[in-house]
Amino acid sequence: MTHFTYRNGEFHAEDVPLSRIAAEVGTPFYCYASAALEEHYRAFAEAFAAMPALICYALKANSNQAVIATLAAAGAGADVVSEGELRRAMAAGVPASRIVFSGVGKTAGEMALALAAGIHQFNVESEPELHSLSAVAQSLGKIAPITIRVNPDIDARTHAKISTGKAENKFGVPWQRARAVYRQAAALPGLKIVGVDVHIGSQLTELGPFEAAFTRVAALVAELRADGHDITRLDLGGGLGIPYEAGQQPPSPADYAAMIRRVTGHLGCALVLEPGRRLVGDAGVLVAQVLYVKASERKTFVILDAAMNDLIRPSLYDAWHDIVPLRKPAADAPYQVVDIVGPVCESGDTLATDRRLPSLVKGDLVAIRSAGAYGAVMASTYNTRPLVPEVLVKGEGFALVRPRPSYADLLGLDRLPPWLDGAAGAASAAGAASASSTASAAGTASIPGTASAAAPLALRHPAATPPPKILRT
Ligand SMILES: Cc1ncc(COP(=O)(O)O)c(C=O)c1O
Repeated sequence: MTHFTYRNGEFHAEDVPLSRIAAEVGTPFYCYASAALEEHYRAFAEAFAAMPALICYALKANSNQAVIATLAAAGAGADVVSEGELRRAMAAGVPASRIVFSGVGKTAGEMALALAAGIHQFNVESEPELHSLSAVAQSLGKIAPITIRVNPDIDARTHAKISTGKAENKFGVPWQRARAVYRQAAALPGLKIVGVDVHIGSQLTELGPFEAAFTRVAALVAELRADGHDITRLDLGGGLGIPYEAGQQPPSPADYAAMIRRVTGHLGCALVLEPGRRLVGDAGVLVAQVLYVKASERKTFVILDAAMNDLIRPSLYDAWHDIVPLRKPAADAPYQVVDIVGPVCESGDTLATDRRLPSLVKGDLVAIRSAGAYGAVMASTYNTRPLVPEVLVKGEGFALVRPRPSYADLLGLDRLPPWLDGAAGAASAAGAASASSTASAAGTASIPGTASAAAPLALRHPAATPPPKILRT
């Protein structure tokens, strides 16, 4: 069930009209529905209830701490791929014992932090990584619980850029070499082999590729056990898709779990699952405002105040997102075929192409749907656009869970080198900014006067001054 619906002609997130949030926060903004996050987690957890399974939410899909905390409160662990994500997971209340660390490029520092925290397991992706982890664990007097991620060379039949289980992808060790790599791991100090890991891609819309990969992994487990390894865990990754377009019907968590039980149940392994998109994708929208409607000879462009820097999936993966006006169109409303684009200076800054939509005019608000996963986390400040804020709704209340940075915040991240500091000072003397070069002697001069230079602009932006972080009811 979706928690984003029209009520009384207004598009709502749970019980809150999104136009009300827009009036307070400004546009664009991401909005997530707590009830949707909880419901998606519950559906997943219930599907695996009869199996010993640890559901580790893949933070890469959406790492806002309010989202993580909502899922953690519902029972989720975390799958992290960087020190930053590890810190976010722990800060949001996920116990280290429920965190798994994936990724092809873990640094020694990241390994040390995760070992000190006492995470559930490391999913090791290469032989050199085994050696590095062994050395770090030894130096700390720790034992690292490990799985080795195998690359089963299975086509996930998803977009090439989110396909990870083919031989040509950088992920995991080739399944044909797995036994040799496990042999190496067993010989290294500081490591304890606990299982096998696999993840073949994201946004899978059929069970076949999963089943092919898990069948290969199950056969490998039998071989590894015959080789004397104590394989007690299977980490089967994430990847279960969501419906982005009408008519799409990816497998349910229940069907996915039933297949896993059929293919791996006889092994008696504890399971780790790493769903990301399935938990959060449908739990979020990106709300934007129409800036202009521009008719050219061939096309009509609806120019929004949201752009590829806020939601890159359409530009990066040709991804489809449904787009709906916040005010429900009348039954006899005219429709138009348009391109929905953003203000960024790239032709690729297109959120939808040749889309038939109710006619839109300047000032209209729209929701770009199913934007909860790989949306805000992939946002950038390209074109010096402030990172898009995030709002979490719960029932009739909502809270700003990441404010829109001010231009002072954004510009203040840059530093001028000492040899340019004078030039900036001269510019400021000419009235562009107020000079303050106290830090320049240390070689870390900040651009003088950014805060004051940004202040008048900030006033023009409705959300430049973040509202207090409170839950509104
Ligand atoms: C190792 C790993 N686990 C889990 C995920 C989450 O995938 P999804 O969001 O499709 O469930 C990913 C993303 O590709 C991943 O690389």
